[in-house]
Amino acid sequence: MANQEHHRYSFTAEWYDSNASLVRKYQLLFYDADNTVEMYDIKNRRLFLKRSKCDSLRYEDLYIGSMINIHSRQLTIVDYADEFTRKQLSQRKQRTLAMIKPDAIGKVGPIIDIIYQSKLLINQAKMISLSTSNAQAFYAEHKAKPFYDKLVRFMTSGPVVAMELMGEDAIQAWRQILGPTDSSVARSEAPGSIRAMFGTDNTQNACHGSDSPASGERETDFFFSKPHKNTAQLKNCTCCIIKPTAVKNGQAGEIMSAICDAGFKMSALEMFHLERANAEEFLEVYKGVVTEYMDMVSELCSGPSIVVEITGSTSMDPNTIPATFREFVGPSDPEIARHLRPKTLRARFGKNKVLNAVHCTDLSEDGMLETEYFFRILSS
Ligand code: RTP
Ligand code: MG
Repeated sequence: MANQEHHRYSFTAEWYDSNASLVRKYQLLFYDADNTVEMYDIKNRRLFLKRSKCDSLRYEDLYIGSMINIHSRQLTIVDYADEFTRKQLSQRKQRTLAMIKPDAIGKVGPIIDIIYQSKLLINQAKMISLSTSNAQAFYAEHKAKPFYDKLVRFMTSGPVVAMELMGEDAIQAWRQILGPTDSSVARSEAPGSIRAMFGTDNTQNACHGSDSPASGERETDFFFSKPHKNTAQLKNCTCCIIKPTAVKNGQAGEIMSAICDAGFKMSALEMFHLERANAEEFLEVYKGVVTEYMDMVSELCSGPSIVVEITGSTSMDPNTIPATFREFVGPSDPEIARHLRPKTLRARFGKNKVLNAVHCTDLSEDGMLETEYFFRILSS
């Protein structure tokens, strides 16, 4: 938080009431002094939820478009409801487009980790392959430059990961983290920067960042306001979900690095804000089988998760990917995992049976089905 003063923030939030098939509107108040919320039903003009504690809700989650969970009810913040809130929060919420370029696709883990260690929030993310015409359009401002054709060829040479980042002064902050355009200049002038660490030269420089608020808007729209085909191969694969609590805790980058270090490949990646109905549907097989089913559902729709299609390196037998990956993820209870298999993902990153950092496909024959659920059915 910016300072020690305590404030009350006011928002308009919507909740889809599936029983009545209608959208209900609430005024949502958030008190940062004690992390409490209070809700008013706007239509009926009455108190809906008296002021009560909501530990899972954080100041950072409060922005327009954010999906939040209040006592198992999934709400979307659609507007600020007073001038104070608008003033305080809108400047903190600048957006920029960050893109991991083809030369750094093997460094997605460390780069995402750097973002989570900064004050920036990842709001959307998707791995795609740019077509020549898309790359040309994206870099249209450089059309007359001598390096344009080389740049387009480079940008279409492999997949990229586009991300919408948000935060105070996000555009400047992200460019600072990137460092100078030319990677060798970056190495001498800003040795800790992304381009210094992961770039090669003045074209292959690891990542992109928008250079002004106008290009931030235009470039995030370019990737996230229209459909782009994802890179999922949907065969010889398994599905890994980095769950909302792990994402919130800033563990996603480290988890991805661990996955790649173990020899797996991330062949598709996308951030999803799951609705409760989708979480229920996806976890249906555990219903009545695992006692924590309802808590698992709540966790899965409590915030953004990052879903990854996992495939193997050339040395792995493609048929065994789901089983090998499951081994690597470890026992579903992180406490047990820490005793029996301390090197597994859940042992390293999980807290308890529900907040166990990652979901992975259980049955080998479901690897493709679960991957399809996200990358064919839900993917925009
Ligand atoms: P970006 O747009 O990718 O964030 O990078 P930037 O603002 O630092 O650099 P910009 O001048 O916008 O150039 C866009 C990208 O073109 C490639 N480039 N190659 N002389 C060259 O070969 C050359 N100069 C620029 C780089 O990939 C640069 O990021
Ligand atoms: Mg530029």
